[in-house]
Amino acid sequence: MAEILRQDRALEEACRLLAAGEPVAIPTETVYGLAADATNGEAVARIFEAKGRPRFNPLIAHVADREMAERIAAFSPLAARLAEAFWPGPLTLVLPHREGSGVHALVTAGLDTVALRCPRGFARDVIARLGRPLAAPSANISGRVSATTAEAVNTALGDRIPLVVDGGPTPVGLESTILKVTDEGLIMLRPGGIAAEEIERVAGTLLSRDAKGIEAPGMLASHYAPHARMRLNVAEVIPGEALLAFGPARAKGAEAAAQVLNLSSSGDLREAAANLFSHLSALDAAGAATIAVEPVPMAGLGEAINDRLVRAAAPRDRQDGER
Ligand code: TXA
Ligand code: MG
Repeated sequence: MAEILRQDRALEEACRLLAAGEPVAIPTETVYGLAADATNGEAVARIFEAKGRPRFNPLIAHVADREMAERIAAFSPLAARLAEAFWPGPLTLVLPHREGSGVHALVTAGLDTVALRCPRGFARDVIARLGRPLAAPSANISGRVSATTAEAVNTALGDRIPLVVDGGPTPVGLESTILKVTDEGLIMLRPGGIAAEEIERVAGTLLSRDAKGIEAPGMLASHYAPHARMRLNVAEVIPGEALLAFGPARAKGAEAAAQVLNLSSSGDLREAAANLFSHLSALDAAGAATIAVEPVPMAGLGEAINDRLVRAAAPRDRQDGER
Protein backbone atom coordinates (compact mmCIF):
# COMPACT_ATOMS: atom_id res chain seq x y z
CA MET A 1 0.00 0.00 0.00
CA ALA A 2 0.98 3.61 -0.43
CA GLU A 3 2.65 5.53 2.33
CA ILE A 4 0.24 8.10 3.80
CA LEU A 5 1.79 11.30 5.10
CA ARG A 6 0.09 14.26 6.71
CA GLN A 7 0.42 17.33 4.53
CA ASP A 8 2.42 19.31 7.08
CA ARG A 9 5.15 16.65 6.86
CA ALA A 10 4.89 15.60 3.25
CA LEU A 11 6.29 18.45 1.17
CA GLU A 12 9.82 17.18 0.80
CA GLU A 13 8.93 13.54 0.12
CA ALA A 14 6.22 14.52 -2.38
CA CYS A 15 8.70 16.74 -4.25
CA ARG A 16 11.32 14.02 -4.28
CA LEU A 17 8.94 11.45 -5.78
CA LEU A 18 7.44 13.90 -8.29
CA ALA A 19 10.90 15.00 -9.45
CA ALA A 20 11.75 11.31 -9.93
CA GLY A 21 8.75 10.88 -12.27
CA GLU A 22 6.45 9.10 -9.79
CA PRO A 23 2.74 9.87 -9.40
CA VAL A 24 1.64 11.17 -5.99
CA ALA A 25 -1.90 11.71 -4.70
CA ILE A 26 -2.26 15.21 -3.26
CA PRO A 27 -5.09 17.21 -1.72
CA THR A 28 -6.48 20.24 -3.51
CA GLU A 29 -9.39 22.37 -2.34
CA THR A 30 -11.75 20.60 -4.79
CA VAL A 31 -10.93 16.87 -4.75
CA TYR A 32 -7.74 14.83 -4.37
CA GLY A 33 -5.59 14.83 -7.49
CA LEU A 34 -3.29 12.13 -8.81
CA ALA A 35 -0.35 14.34 -9.70
CA ALA A 36 2.72 13.94 -11.87
CA ASP A 37 5.31 16.27 -13.40
CA ALA A 38 3.46 17.74 -16.40
CA THR A 39 6.71 18.18 -18.31
CA ASN A 40 7.64 14.47 -18.12
CA GLY A 41 5.72 12.26 -20.58
CA GLU A 42 6.47 8.97 -18.86
CA ALA A 43 5.47 10.40 -15.49
CA VAL A 44 2.16 11.49 -17.02
CA ALA A 45 1.72 8.05 -18.62
CA ARG A 46 1.97 6.60 -15.10
CA ILE A 47 -1.13 8.60 -14.11
CA PHE A 48 -3.16 6.91 -16.84
CA GLU A 49 -1.70 3.58 -15.89
CA ALA A 50 -2.58 3.95 -12.21
CA LYS A 51 -6.11 5.21 -12.93
CA GLY A 52 -6.74 2.51 -15.48
CA ARG A 53 -8.05 5.15 -17.88
CA PRO A 54 -8.94 3.53 -21.16
CA ARG A 55 -8.53 6.87 -22.91
CA PHE A 56 -6.02 9.69 -23.02
CA ASN A 57 -8.27 12.58 -22.10
CA PRO A 58 -6.45 15.86 -21.76
CA LEU A 59 -5.47 16.68 -18.18
CA ILE A 60 -5.43 19.91 -16.20
CA ALA A 61 -1.97 21.42 -15.71
CA HIS A 62 -1.83 22.89 -12.22
CA VAL A 63 0.34 25.93 -11.64
CA ALA A 64 1.63 27.82 -8.61
CA ASP A 65 0.91 31.32 -9.89
CA ARG A 66 0.10 33.54 -12.86
CA GLU A 67 3.72 33.77 -13.86
CA MET A 68 3.98 30.01 -14.34
CA ALA A 69 0.61 30.05 -16.10
CA GLU A 70 1.64 32.77 -18.56
CA ARG A 71 4.67 30.73 -19.61
CA ILE A 72 2.30 27.92 -20.60
CA ALA A 73 -0.70 29.66 -22.15
CA ALA A 74 -1.65 32.93 -23.81
CA PHE A 75 -3.95 35.01 -21.60
CA SER A 76 -6.43 37.38 -23.21
CA PRO A 77 -7.44 40.37 -21.07
CA LEU A 78 -10.62 38.50 -20.13
CA ALA A 79 -8.69 35.38 -19.13
CA ALA A 80 -6.37 37.52 -17.03
CA ARG A 81 -9.33 39.12 -15.27
CA LEU A 82 -10.82 35.72 -14.43
CA ALA A 83 -7.51 34.39 -13.11
CA GLU A 84 -7.10 37.55 -11.05
CA ALA A 85 -10.56 37.08 -9.52
CA PHE A 86 -10.63 33.33 -8.91
CA TRP A 87 -7.05 32.04 -8.51
CA PRO A 88 -5.99 30.29 -6.43
CA GLY A 89 -9.31 28.45 -6.52
CA PRO A 90 -11.64 25.99 -8.26
CA LEU A 91 -11.60 27.53 -11.73
CA THR A 92 -9.88 25.86 -14.69
CA LEU A 93 -9.22 27.97 -17.78
CA VAL A 94 -8.80 26.36 -21.20
CA LEU A 95 -6.50 28.68 -23.15
CA PRO A 96 -4.27 28.68 -26.24
CA HIS A 97 -1.17 26.63 -25.47
CA ARG A 98 2.17 28.37 -26.02
CA GLU A 99 4.66 26.45 -28.09
CA GLY A 100 7.70 25.32 -26.13
CA SER A 101 5.91 25.65 -22.78
CA GLY A 102 7.41 22.39 -21.59
CA VAL A 103 3.97 20.90 -20.84
CA HIS A 104 4.01 17.46 -22.41
CA ALA A 105 1.73 16.59 -25.34
CA LEU A 106 0.23 13.72 -23.32
CA VAL A 107 -1.20 16.35 -20.94
CA THR A 108 -2.91 18.32 -23.72
CA ALA A 109 -3.71 15.16 -25.73
CA GLY A 110 -2.04 16.91 -28.64
CA LEU A 111 -4.56 19.79 -28.66
CA ASP A 112 -3.48 23.38 -29.21
CA THR A 113 -5.21 24.43 -26.01
CA VAL A 114 -4.24 23.69 -22.42
CA ALA A 115 -6.36 23.55 -19.26
CA LEU A 116 -4.77 25.51 -16.40
CA ARG A 117 -5.68 25.83 -12.76
CA CYS A 118 -3.98 27.35 -9.75
CA PRO A 119 -5.12 25.32 -6.73
CA ARG A 120 -5.13 26.28 -3.07
CA GLY A 121 -3.19 24.71 -0.25
CA PHE A 122 -0.74 21.82 -0.34
CA ALA A 123 -1.04 21.34 -4.10
CA ARG A 124 0.06 24.90 -4.71
CA ASP A 125 2.93 24.64 -2.23
CA VAL A 126 4.28 21.51 -3.85
CA ILE A 127 4.13 23.03 -7.34
CA ALA A 128 5.93 26.16 -6.16
CA ARG A 129 8.63 24.10 -4.48
CA LEU A 130 9.05 21.80 -7.49
CA GLY A 131 9.07 24.77 -9.87
CA ARG A 132 7.15 22.79 -12.47
CA PRO A 133 3.46 22.38 -13.35
CA LEU A 134 1.68 19.23 -12.21
CA ALA A 135 -0.79 17.29 -14.32
CA ALA A 136 -3.51 15.96 -12.04
CA PRO A 137 -6.82 14.30 -12.78
CA SER A 138 -9.05 13.38 -9.87
CA ALA A 139 -7.46 10.61 -7.80
CA ASN A 140 -9.99 7.85 -8.40
CA ILE A 141 -10.16 4.77 -10.57
CA SER A 142 -11.46 5.69 -14.01
CA GLY A 143 -15.25 5.86 -14.07
CA ARG A 144 -15.66 6.07 -10.28
CA VAL A 145 -16.49 9.08 -8.15
CA SER A 146 -13.77 11.56 -7.27
CA ALA A 147 -12.04 11.06 -3.92
CA THR A 148 -12.42 13.75 -1.28
CA THR A 149 -10.48 12.04 1.52
CA ALA A 150 -7.05 10.42 1.72
CA GLU A 151 -8.69 7.17 2.84
CA ALA A 152 -10.82 7.05 -0.31
CA VAL A 153 -7.73 7.67 -2.44
CA ASN A 154 -5.83 4.96 -0.63
CA THR A 155 -8.64 2.45 -1.06
CA ALA A 156 -8.86 3.15 -4.78
CA LEU A 157 -5.23 3.63 -5.74
CA GLY A 158 -3.09 2.72 -2.72
CA ASP A 159 -1.62 -0.39 -4.29
CA ARG A 160 -0.59 1.48 -7.44
CA ILE A 161 1.16 4.62 -6.18
CA PRO A 162 3.93 5.26 -3.65
CA LEU A 163 2.46 8.16 -1.63
CA VAL A 164 -0.89 9.65 -0.61
CA VAL A 165 -0.65 13.07 1.04
CA ASP A 166 -3.38 13.51 3.64
CA GLY A 167 -4.85 16.99 3.88
CA GLY A 168 -8.12 15.93 5.47
CA PRO A 169 -11.46 16.16 3.67
CA THR A 170 -11.31 18.56 0.72
CA PRO A 171 -13.26 21.76 1.46
CA VAL A 172 -15.04 22.23 -1.89
CA GLY A 173 -15.75 18.57 -2.46
CA LEU A 174 -16.44 18.72 -6.16
CA GLU A 175 -14.25 19.42 -9.16
CA SER A 176 -13.33 22.79 -10.58
CA THR A 177 -15.49 24.65 -13.06
CA ILE A 178 -13.91 24.36 -16.52
CA LEU A 179 -14.17 27.41 -18.73
CA LYS A 180 -12.94 27.68 -22.28
CA VAL A 181 -11.92 31.24 -23.07
CA THR A 182 -12.08 32.12 -26.77
CA ASP A 183 -12.22 35.33 -28.79
CA GLU A 184 -15.93 34.69 -29.24
CA GLY A 185 -16.62 34.37 -25.53
CA LEU A 186 -16.77 31.94 -22.63
CA ILE A 187 -17.92 28.34 -22.82
CA MET A 188 -18.53 26.38 -19.65
CA LEU A 189 -17.27 22.87 -20.37
CA ARG A 190 -17.95 21.52 -16.89
CA PRO A 191 -19.91 23.05 -14.01
CA GLY A 192 -18.00 22.88 -10.75
CA GLY A 193 -16.77 24.66 -7.65
CA ILE A 194 -17.42 28.19 -8.90
CA ALA A 195 -20.96 29.07 -9.98
CA ALA A 196 -21.65 30.33 -13.48
CA GLU A 197 -23.27 33.47 -12.06
CA GLU A 198 -20.11 34.40 -10.17
CA ILE A 199 -18.06 34.05 -13.33
CA GLU A 200 -20.59 36.04 -15.36
CA ARG A 201 -20.45 38.84 -12.81
CA VAL A 202 -16.67 39.16 -13.13
CA ALA A 203 -16.59 38.62 -16.90
CA GLY A 204 -19.46 40.98 -17.64
CA THR A 205 -20.77 38.52 -20.24
CA LEU A 206 -22.96 35.43 -20.20
CA LEU A 207 -21.48 31.95 -20.41
CA SER A 208 -22.51 29.59 -23.11
CA ARG A 209 -22.87 25.97 -22.17
CA ASP A 210 -21.37 23.48 -24.50
CA ALA A 211 -24.36 21.23 -25.04
CA LYS A 212 -22.14 18.36 -26.08
CA GLY A 213 -19.55 17.93 -23.45
CA ILE A 214 -19.79 17.73 -19.71
CA GLU A 215 -17.84 14.82 -18.24
CA ALA A 216 -15.05 14.80 -20.77
CA PRO A 217 -15.19 17.69 -23.21
CA GLY A 218 -11.74 16.83 -24.45
CA MET A 219 -13.06 13.58 -25.85
CA LEU A 220 -15.43 15.33 -28.21
CA ALA A 221 -15.20 17.86 -30.98
CA SER A 222 -11.87 19.37 -30.02
CA HIS A 223 -9.88 16.20 -30.71
CA TYR A 224 -6.49 16.29 -32.22
CA ALA A 225 -6.90 14.85 -35.67
CA PRO A 226 -4.07 14.60 -38.18
CA HIS A 227 -4.52 15.92 -41.72
CA ALA A 228 -3.12 12.68 -43.09
CA ARG A 229 -5.29 9.62 -43.46
CA MET A 230 -4.41 6.83 -41.08
CA ARG A 231 -4.18 3.12 -41.64
CA LEU A 232 -4.07 1.08 -38.44
CA ASN A 233 -2.63 -2.34 -37.61
CA VAL A 234 -0.67 -2.54 -40.83
CA ALA A 235 1.33 -5.62 -41.67
CA GLU A 236 2.70 -4.05 -44.84
CA VAL A 237 3.64 -0.47 -45.67
CA ILE A 238 2.69 1.06 -49.02
CA PRO A 239 5.62 3.00 -50.52
CA GLY A 240 5.43 6.70 -49.67
CA GLU A 241 3.38 6.27 -46.50
CA ALA A 242 4.74 7.61 -43.23
CA LEU A 243 5.15 4.85 -40.65
CA LEU A 244 4.34 5.02 -36.97
CA ALA A 245 6.17 1.98 -35.70
CA PHE A 246 6.06 0.07 -32.43
CA GLY A 247 8.53 -2.43 -31.04
CA PRO A 248 11.70 -3.98 -32.39
CA ALA A 249 10.30 -5.67 -35.55
CA ARG A 250 9.27 -3.65 -38.64
CA ALA A 251 6.25 -4.19 -40.88
CA LYS A 252 6.95 -5.47 -44.38
CA GLY A 253 7.99 -2.72 -46.78
CA ALA A 254 9.02 -0.35 -43.97
CA GLU A 255 12.17 0.60 -45.87
CA ALA A 256 9.96 2.27 -48.53
CA ALA A 257 8.23 4.50 -45.97
CA ALA A 258 8.64 8.25 -46.45
CA GLN A 259 9.51 8.60 -42.77
CA VAL A 260 9.53 6.30 -39.76
CA LEU A 261 9.07 7.18 -36.09
CA ASN A 262 8.98 4.46 -33.47
CA LEU A 263 6.72 4.87 -30.42
CA SER A 264 9.05 2.57 -28.49
CA SER A 265 11.67 0.41 -30.15
CA SER A 266 11.83 -1.81 -27.07
CA GLY A 267 8.03 -2.24 -27.06
CA ASP A 268 7.50 -0.34 -23.78
CA LEU A 269 3.89 0.90 -23.63
CA ARG A 270 4.68 3.69 -21.16
CA GLU A 271 7.31 5.11 -23.48
CA ALA A 272 4.89 4.66 -26.39
CA ALA A 273 2.18 6.61 -24.58
CA ALA A 274 4.60 9.42 -23.89
CA ASN A 275 5.59 9.59 -27.57
CA LEU A 276 2.15 9.12 -29.13
CA PHE A 277 1.00 12.69 -29.74
CA SER A 278 4.39 14.16 -30.58
CA HIS A 279 5.19 11.39 -33.08
CA LEU A 280 1.75 11.61 -34.69
CA SER A 281 2.01 15.34 -35.16
CA ALA A 282 5.62 15.13 -36.39
CA LEU A 283 4.67 12.58 -39.05
CA ASP A 284 1.63 14.65 -39.96
CA ALA A 285 3.69 17.82 -40.27
CA ALA A 286 6.09 16.05 -42.63
CA GLY A 287 3.22 15.94 -45.13
CA ALA A 288 2.64 12.29 -46.11
CA ALA A 289 -0.89 11.57 -47.38
CA THR A 290 -1.19 8.51 -45.15
CA ILE A 291 0.26 7.44 -41.83
CA ALA A 292 0.50 3.67 -41.51
CA VAL A 293 0.51 2.43 -37.94
CA GLU A 294 1.95 -0.86 -36.76
CA PRO A 295 -0.14 -2.91 -34.31
CA VAL A 296 0.07 -1.87 -30.66
CA PRO A 297 -0.94 -4.57 -28.16
CA MET A 298 -4.09 -3.94 -26.10
CA ALA A 299 -2.49 -4.68 -22.70
CA GLY A 300 -2.15 -1.96 -20.05
CA LEU A 301 -1.72 1.49 -21.61
CA GLY A 302 -2.13 -0.16 -25.02
CA GLU A 303 -5.89 0.17 -24.68
CA ALA A 304 -5.69 3.95 -24.36
CA ILE A 305 -3.12 4.16 -27.17
CA ASN A 306 -5.37 2.16 -29.47
CA ASP A 307 -8.43 4.19 -28.48
CA ARG A 308 -6.63 7.37 -29.47
CA LEU A 309 -5.35 5.91 -32.73
CA VAL A 310 -8.86 4.80 -33.69
CA ARG A 311 -10.18 8.30 -32.98
CA ALA A 312 -7.38 9.90 -34.96
CA ALA A 313 -8.20 7.56 -37.86
CA ALA A 314 -11.97 8.16 -37.77
CA PRO A 315 -13.46 9.61 -40.96
CA ARG A 316 -14.10 13.34 -40.75
CA ASP A 317 -14.75 16.42 -42.79
CA ARG A 318 -11.58 16.97 -44.80
CA GLN A 319 -12.37 20.36 -46.28
CA ASP A 320 -9.58 22.15 -44.50
CA GLY A 321 -6.12 21.02 -45.42
CA GLU A 322 -7.23 17.99 -47.43
CA ARG A 323 -4.43 15.73 -48.56
O1 TXA B 1 -10.97 20.07 -9.47
C1 TXA B 1 -10.42 19.57 -10.46
O2 TXA B 1 -10.49 20.08 -11.57
C2 TXA B 1 -9.63 18.28 -10.22
C3 TXA B 1 -8.48 18.61 -9.28
C4 TXA B 1 -7.58 17.44 -9.04
O3 TXA B 1 -7.75 19.70 -9.77
N1 TXA B 1 -9.15 17.72 -11.46
C5 TXA B 1 -9.98 17.12 -12.38
O4 TXA B 1 -9.31 16.60 -13.47
O5 TXA B 1 -11.18 17.06 -12.26
P1 TXA B 1 -9.98 15.54 -14.49
O6 TXA B 1 -8.85 15.05 -15.37
O7 TXA B 1 -10.73 14.52 -13.75
O8 TXA B 1 -10.91 16.44 -15.37
C6 TXA B 1 -10.35 17.37 -16.26
C7 TXA B 1 -11.27 17.65 -17.42
C8 TXA B 1 -11.45 16.46 -18.34
O9 TXA B 1 -12.82 16.23 -18.56
C9 TXA B 1 -10.78 16.91 -19.62
O10 TXA B 1 -11.37 16.38 -20.76
C10 TXA B 1 -10.89 18.42 -19.55
O11 TXA B 1 -10.70 18.71 -18.20
N2 TXA B 1 -9.84 19.11 -20.31
C11 TXA B 1 -8.52 19.14 -20.05
N3 TXA B 1 -7.84 19.84 -20.99
C12 TXA B 1 -8.76 20.27 -21.88
C13 TXA B 1 -8.70 21.03 -23.08
N4 TXA B 1 -7.54 21.50 -23.57
N5 TXA B 1 -9.86 21.28 -23.73
C14 TXA B 1 -11.04 20.82 -23.25
N6 TXA B 1 -11.15 20.08 -22.12
C15 TXA B 1 -10.04 19.80 -21.45
MG1 MG C 1 -12.22 13.06 -12.98
